[in-house]
Amino acid sequence: MKSLRKMINIALPKGRLGEKAYGVFEEIGYGCPSIRETNRKLIFENEENGVRYFWVKPSDVAVYVERGVADVGVVGKDILLEQASDVYELLDLGMGKCRMAVAGKKGGRIDTDCTLRVATKFPNIAREYYRKQSLEIEIIELHGSIEIAPILGMSDVIVDIVETGTTLLENDLEPWEDIVSISARLIANKASYKFLNAPIRQMCEKMNEVITKKS
Ligand code: PRP
Repeated sequence: MKSLRKMINIALPKGRLGEKAYGVFEEIGYGCPSIRETNRKLIFENEENGVRYFWVKPSDVAVYVERGVADVGVVGKDILLEQASDVYELLDLGMGKCRMAVAGKKGGRIDTDCTLRVATKFPNIAREYYRKQSLEIEIIELHGSIEIAPILGMSDVIVDIVETGTTLLENDLEPWEDIVSISARLIANKASYKFLNAPIRQMCEKMNEVITKKS
């Protein structure tokens, strides 16, 4: 017999983090076997388990959730901070761990007498960080390979994600200051959290159990 439950729509970030997160959903009973059968399809559903998954660009997950197309989603804290998304943050999934840091040339330092040129993919995070330090900055917004900017003298520092530190090392840069620790979060649309409160909370609790067991 067909289930009459409302489907829970879940936005997952395409890539390794999303696959890892899907593994947890699967473990707690929200599996959707067809998701492992192809790597080009973007929407999968399993009526029996009452779930529908969307693979979206990592930086778009919170947009789908905020607009209610997805009830819940998995997104990095860096993106949540940058986009200041109007969603509920339900759970730290303890995966995709890294940090947001200021980095510059090896052995260099900040010259506080000049306007600091900051290259970054995260202009809002960088602006907020330097506002608190009362430092005058100029943001140079880039979309990738940020590390090149200080090497070529286009910026004084970068504000970027550091995971293993290899990219900095291989480009003669070093971390100067840590801004914030980052990890993946389970987020929910505010209206969905109200109207699907029981299933979403149950999902969240089960995920928490699995994650706690693994940590
Ligand atoms: C991210 C980030 C750093 C790098 C850090 O870039 O912007 O460049 O990973 O990782 P590491 O500390 O382990 O070296 P991403 O791979 O997303 O590519 P991008 O340059 O296109 O942003």
